[in-house]
Amino acid sequence: MNIGIIIYSQTGNTREAAGQLQEKLAAKGHRADIEEIEIKGKVPAQPGQFELSSSPDPGKYDALVFGSPVQAFNLHPVMKAYLDQLPPLEDRAVACFITKRLPIVWTGGTQAIGKMKTACHSKGAVVKGAEIIFWSGRESREKAVEAVENLAALF
Ligand SMILES: Cc1cc2nc3c(=O)[nH]c(=O)nc-3n(C[C@H](O)[C@H](O)[C@H](O)COP(=O)(O)O)c2cc1C
Repeated sequence: MNIGIIIYSQTGNTREAAGQLQEKLAAKGHRADIEEIEIKGKVPAQPGQFELSSSPDPGKYDALVFGSPVQAFNLHPVMKAYLDQLPPLEDRAVACFITKRLPIVWTGGTQAIGKMKTACHSKGAVVKGAEIIFWSGRESREKAVEAVENLAALF
């Protein structure tokens, strides 16, 4: 399967998780490309105060994984803007993940994942699964490995 891992990463954590997922998917015989959403504007981006300067095209992939950080207890505004402007995804299999620092889901994790799923459903995608990745400390890294394995197992 040709899988697009489409991410926004401000400080590298989501990019690192995406790289681990790419390796796991490749080990399962998939082709997985990482593509990054890029913006023009001040960082950290605030809603309505940036422009998408690079919006990866989802059309060339059989399946998609979207990855984003949490920002201010919510889905990062860049990922929200990207998902909102996507064309219909027409039954495409999709997985989502977010990375966050605070090791408690209700500090933005469930909210962010919920918004990603809603945006994907509204485009007609089939959301196969989602993971919250806590990105701080050694214990979190071990859980991150588990989350990445769960994502890879969806394809
Ligand atoms: C401005 C800002 C706001 C953040 N807000 C939250 C938050 O509400 N909850 C949380 O768990 N982490 C929060 N974080 C931490 C990031 O979500 C976390 O470090 C994430 O892994 C960053 O991903 P990236 O390195 O791919 O940009 C915030 C970070 C920044 C810079």
